[in-house]
Amino acid sequence: MPNTPRHATPRHYLMCRPTHFDVNYAINPWMDPTAPVDPELAVKQWEQLRELYQQYGHTVDLLDPVPGLPDMVFSANGATVVEDRVLIARFRHEERAPEAAHYQEWFTAQGYPEVHTARYINEAEGDYIVVGDTVLAGTGFRTDPEAHGELRRALRRPVVTLTLVDPRFYHLDTALAALSDTEVAYYPGAFSEGSLEALRILYPDAILVDEQDALSFGLNAVSDGHHVFLPDTAEGFARQLWEHGFEPVGVDLSELLKAGGSVKCCTLEIRHPALSRTALAVG
Ligand code: ARG
Repeated sequence: MPNTPRHATPRHYLMCRPTHFDVNYAINPWMDPTAPVDPELAVKQWEQLRELYQQYGHTVDLLDPVPGLPDMVFSANGATVVEDRVLIARFRHEERAPEAAHYQEWFTAQGYPEVHTARYINEAEGDYIVVGDTVLAGTGFRTDPEAHGELRRALRRPVVTLTLVDPRFYHLDTALAALSDTEVAYYPGAFSEGSLEALRILYPDAILVDEQDALSFGLNAVSDGHHVFLPDTAEGFARQLWEHGFEPVGVDLSELLKAGGSVKCCTLEIRHPALSRTALAVG
């Protein structure tokens, strides 16, 4: 669909500066605690992403980073938000578990009427990708399949379970990206046969990304409906996006990749344009 007209809509993101970023434990195959990390470079690269979002007209709210929580920069894992309903994460690993309370506090302080605490393990937008009215829900490595029912009840949206089978793609947002309300891109090698069948039925025109671009975390991308922010190393996927009428915007987050995260992991999308902070505060 090369001539599909694309329209960007202003988005609202929650991010967390990697002030305390480090790789001092390994909870995914990308993390090597013996390899050096440059926290200053991580902050610099992250600032570039934040500035890009603002340059493209998006709103960025910031959550205060907490010492001792080196993965907190990956705000996508903190909560899933649809309209005024929020489901807080419950992390699989104890190293990240304390992050959840900070998201709970933030969304409660913003005045969200429904802030649900999770009973089952779910790593929020890391495994939950909102595509239009549907939520695609990953499982296999982090989020419990039982959590998917809890998500459906809390957000009151249909939920489609997708099973991940390759440990390098341990969160759904490392293997699939939402490009618009009806379009996705994904790396087929990350999914079980049954999940691939579901994806083919739901999205027959999806962009299929190759292994090399998937390994560059190309699918860890954020779309505003026209611009797609993604790691600048995913060149093949960037070409595919152009062909489909999107405008790829490459970002270098190489330092954060050492923890197994990139653009999308650093971005929690708040999907309620009508509920601005002020409106929530007075309401
Ligand atoms: N080191 C983090 C972890 O393993 C990276 C999280 C990446 N976040 C994401 N949304 N995929 O939990």
